[in-house]
Amino acid sequence: MEILTGRIAVVTGGGTGMGRELVRQLAKEGCHVATCDVSSTAVNETKVLALEDAPSGTRVTTFIADVADESQLLAFRDAVANDHSTPSINLLFNNAGIAGGGSFIDDDRSSWERTFAIDWGGVYLGTRTFLPMLMEASEGHIVNTSSINGVFASIGPSRPHTAYCAAKFAVRGFSEALITDLRVNAPHINVSVVMPGHVGTSIVINSGIVHGKEPDDLNEEDLVKIRRQLAQGGTPVDEVADEDLRKGVAMFGEAFRDLAPLSAASAATIILDGVRKNQWRILVGEDAVAIDEMVRTTPEQVYEPEFWQSLQSKGFFQGFGL
Ligand SMILES: NC(=O)c1ccc[n+]([C@@H]2O[C@H](COP(=O)([O-])OP(=O)(O)OC[C@H]3O[C@@H](n4cnc5c(N)ncnc54)[C@H](O)[C@@H]3O)[C@@H](O)[C@H]2O)c1
Repeated sequence: MEILTGRIAVVTGGGTGMGRELVRQLAKEGCHVATCDVSSTAVNETKVLALEDAPSGTRVTTFIADVADESQLLAFRDAVANDHSTPSINLLFNNAGIAGGGSFIDDDRSSWERTFAIDWGGVYLGTRTFLPMLMEASEGHIVNTSSINGVFASIGPSRPHTAYCAAKFAVRGFSEALITDLRVNAPHINVSVVMPGHVGTSIVINSGIVHGKEPDDLNEEDLVKIRRQLAQGGTPVDEVADEDLRKGVAMFGEAFRDLAPLSAASAATIILDGVRKNQWRILVGEDAVAIDEMVRTTPEQVYEPEFWQSLQSKGFFQGFGL
């Protein structure tokens, strides 16, 4: 879809990060956008920012919906149809996502399932919900955000990351399989799978909010677990006071955002360029490009510590991989 002006796009998770930047850049081009998020404050800020740069007449509408809940997505779909007076949309960005549920063994089942339900379920339900509106359009494009963790199921040799990786592999597999399904059954719709490396967003902070585990909310049991997990990673913190540990958790979220090699705005530009060129796989960032190549070149080696050391020696994922 070379020209985005005058189209209608749906973006999930438009409150911050790459979702916000997608909304802003789409609107700047005169593409009408409907976006949802779980944070009304964030998504309303996005709307204000997007309209500042958009040509007059561009519509940016917002809705509060949890992408893991089909009834909320159906209500969002009805609002899109109503707010934009349309039976059809052209672009669907299934972008919302969180981190969490790292260990299948050591973490709560609830945090594992919440992460999987948003990261995979949100893409699945988002596609199911909006497919009828894409079918009604003359041209459509589904853009599913996976991750480089949809290629490589690790953020380092001592940090389990199971729910997120399982979900992101599912998103990639689903999107790749949709290519054939759409060609056979809906050839006017294309699909892209987006695989970012480390992008500077508040995903670590926002994931704490979604899981109800902001640094100040961490209870005794949470802190014991964080101490155990840090020790497993070779960073014993027995001498560190609880308050300082909470501060450390907050600092990690900020460092993830502030020390990334790529901004959310640059990531959104790469994604939209990929959509315009109809690329079915959109790797975002030099780290993502390098990991994708290394995984394909030495598949048997990828979960060995040397593979991670080799990534870090190239300057990638200096402690903040997602
Ligand atoms: N930042 C990275 O390094 C990175 C790397 C690879 C993939 N990703 C993926 O990119 C996507 C965007 O992430 P981001 O980094 O911009 O994070 P972000 O936290 O800045 O943005 C995600 C947005 O989704 C919203 N959200 C969370 N749960 C939701 C739910 N259940 N329903 C609706 N909205 C919800 C959040 O409130 C937030 O506004 C995610 O799918 C993420 O997994 C991010």
